[in-house]
Amino acid sequence: MATAKPKYYITTPIYYVNARPHLGHTYTTIAADAMARYKQMRGFDVLFLTGTDEHGQKVERSAKKNEESPIDFVDRVSAEYRDLWKHLGLRVDRFIRTTETRHAHAVQHLFREIQNNGYVYKGHYEGNYCVSDEMYIDDSTPGATCPECGRVTERVKEENYFFQLSKFEKPLLNYYEQYPEFIQPEARRNEIISFVRGGLRDLSISRSTFSWGIPVPDDPKHVIYVWLDALANYITALGYGASAGQADAGQAGDAKYKKYWPADVQMIGKEIVRFHCVYWPAFLMAAGLPLPKSIVAHGWLLFEENKMSKSRGNIVRTETILDVLGADALRYFLLREVVFGQDGSFSFDALVQRYNSDLANGLGNLASRTLAMITRYFKGEVPYPSNSVSRTPADQAIAKLAERTIADFNALFEQFHFSRALEAAWALVAAVDKYIVENEPWALAEKQDETSRARLATVLYTSAEALRIVTVLAHPVMPEATTRIWTQLGLGEIAQVPLPDLRWGQLPLGTKVGKVEPVFPRADKSAIERMQKMEDQERTPAAARAATAAAPPAVEDKDKKEDVGRRASSPGHPGTGQAPQTPAQPTPTTPPSATAQSPTAAPATDPKITIDDFAKIELRVAQIKVAEKVKGADKLLRLEVDLGTETRQIVAGIAEAYAPESLIGRKVVIVANLAPRKLRGLESNGMIVAASLEGGKPVLAAFLEDVPNGARLK
Ligand code: MSP
Repeated sequence: MATAKPKYYITTPIYYVNARPHLGHTYTTIAADAMARYKQMRGFDVLFLTGTDEHGQKVERSAKKNEESPIDFVDRVSAEYRDLWKHLGLRVDRFIRTTETRHAHAVQHLFREIQNNGYVYKGHYEGNYCVSDEMYIDDSTPGATCPECGRVTERVKEENYFFQLSKFEKPLLNYYEQYPEFIQPEARRNEIISFVRGGLRDLSISRSTFSWGIPVPDDPKHVIYVWLDALANYITALGYGASAGQADAGQAGDAKYKKYWPADVQMIGKEIVRFHCVYWPAFLMAAGLPLPKSIVAHGWLLFEENKMSKSRGNIVRTETILDVLGADALRYFLLREVVFGQDGSFSFDALVQRYNSDLANGLGNLASRTLAMITRYFKGEVPYPSNSVSRTPADQAIAKLAERTIADFNALFEQFHFSRALEAAWALVAAVDKYIVENEPWALAEKQDETSRARLATVLYTSAEALRIVTVLAHPVMPEATTRIWTQLGLGEIAQVPLPDLRWGQLPLGTKVGKVEPVFPRADKSAIERMQKMEDQERTPAAARAATAAAPPAVEDKDKKEDVGRRASSPGHPGTGQAPQTPAQPTPTTPPSATAQSPTAAPATDPKITIDDFAKIELRVAQIKVAEKVKGADKLLRLEVDLGTETRQIVAGIAEAYAPESLIGRKVVIVANLAPRKLRGLESNGMIVAASLEGGKPVLAAFLEDVPNGARLK
């Protein structure tokens, strides 16, 4: 009797639908997809879950801003996520939406279970709340900023249901102690342990001042706190709660829940560790349910040195890369370039460079040269590695390295060390390349003697066998490209290759190779330009408005209003004779008028600037930390401003308009990429943007909503 396959259940966070998907979301989903494919090849019965988080105040507000009903809004943005995963070819088994009726019933069931077990009481919450993170804030000082995102919190005063989180302090600490692998990596584990040791307060698990959520059972004035609703998706997606008697709980009942829960891996970004490693296990403990085996947190994808996020306005769309280089190039880049667990930068330059070095010149080149030589010298049949006379230590060395690569790759991949695993596999590619160059099969092919022919067979067999091994190992990371190489190698179904059995020497002799076609054509510089242009176009106000999700950033409309009858001035460089800067010019919403010129080059007589001109000016939000008068200069203030990633000194000509003490803590807009200059012996790094009123004093540009330090204005 065949033994049943062991199960493997892997999840990603469910993404908020307040904004459309970007590369940050894609990163987690690709990493989980690669692991799911890997585990499948290792013989597991894999279930891979992702989905969308559709309730809560943030989503409700985004829908309102967009002048849509919440349900129409969430339907549309959720579909974008689902379509993108499809387009990327991800092997998602279940895509959950928290607006599904059966999810709602199951969450209510979970709420009741926790309530019945005595962990819920009614009370009043008065304190601060960050709508962007849907998070209660410990600091209850009015106007306190959110420790996560830096936005100003909102005051909440309402009747709530509370969860006795405080009761779980000890049980959680015991659990972390007993199961060290529960929180990965180690740094996150330590962080959580010290957070819990610091003491846990009871947590409000309902809201009663808005209605976009799942009603609390028997008290529909309240909706269930969006994080309890969202975290529950990991079990409701499997049918948890389905046997609790709901009519439409799904035909499959809770069979999947019984089979797949607890999850083997719950992959998340590092900013939501507390929700997953404190609240989630406490909710499960309170309901008497098993806990997931591990929560694995990765770092952030950075773009232009900041976390890629919609609110910072520095997102890159996945579709752009898909269109130009394809899904596999992106998958390889993200998993090879970013050390999983740490922050990693994304840039189009680095992407194309990696693509060319590792894929076009690396694996792609190895595949095409090896297969082309087999086609040419052996009529397309994998040759016999001949007798021992034709073997050399170099062949042996490749075989040995390949065996070691298989072992290393597996050990590293299992531990989520994707980058090092790929590095190990590519060390084999490099070794085989060198081996081919040193053994000169093309020269051997010129000779007609038997030894040379036998030697040629051995060299090509060795190369093809190494190619087969790298291709199998790389399959979870690049499913499409490796399938094509596999077909060219004349082999069957790559996804069915059992990884635990992978060994050197399994390439069947005489295999008829397929038609040799390039898998990774070299990308030239224009690929970078094309991707950059696609993103720039996406960022024009017109495109942003046409795009889905939330209303266009306030700054665009604001710029338009301020532009009327006013001129932005440069008080950072007063009286220097420098040409006035116009940093706050609105970006054009229509292309330049129909002339024959290129769309990026405006004619000299046209006073309008192009989007590319505008993009050269780096406008950022900065917070004033220090402000003082400059001795002997009536108009100048010396400021120190916080740009999120650094503090800078700026000397600004605003002393007549602003008392230094009135500026502390104020958020301003600065031109961040201006060359430094000296004023009264002080170095000024950038300038502050203000409106200059005819004959009046400068007025600093400001925001109505709170914006994080360092956010770029576009
Ligand atoms: N809805 C919650 C999660 C609920 S899970 C029960 C949420 N959603 S989110 O849309 O903000 O997505 C956050 C997740 O998206 C991160 O934890 C991470 O997995 C991924 N990422 C979003 N931006 C990212 C980067 N810039 N870099 C890496 N991952 C990023 O939080």
